[in-house]
Amino acid sequence: MQIYKWTEALRTNIDKIDNDHKLIINKAQELTEAMQQGKGKQQIVETLTFLQKYVKTHFAEEEVMQQKSNFKDFDTHKKNHTYFISELDKLSDKIKMDPTSTVNVIELNRLISGWFMNHIQKMDVEVAKHINATDNKN
Ligand SMILES: [Fe+2]
Repeated sequence: MQIYKWTEALRTNIDKIDNDHKLIINKAQELTEAMQQGKGKQQIVETLTFLQKYVKTHFAEEEVMQQKSNFKDFDTHKKNHTYFISELDKLSDKIKMDPTSTVNVIELNRLISGWFMNHIQKMDVEVAKHINATDNKN
């Protein structure tokens, strides 16, 4: 069952960011399915590790773009990213201990549907407007 889906409401109009968001959402979907289907621990941990690494690189790239364009709410935005990374790291440890736990599937859902997709729709779409406007001035 498809739980995570990229929609137009998440579009920032910055291709690199949109493509990253799509990939992260797809990976979260893949991870959820692997956990629900009780796939082997190795596969679950591989998908999880990919997701974790990709999120970190993606946030770092977003932060560079924000700094370059002198985004005024950079500090708040970065704090949000730091929060998500620490939650994902905590969950990752739990998943590694118990790769098919339903509780961990629910927690992943809270982080991706509840936090990440909400963050894109509220904060990233806003920041992208600023970045796009700044780019157009240069
Ligand atoms: Fe962000």
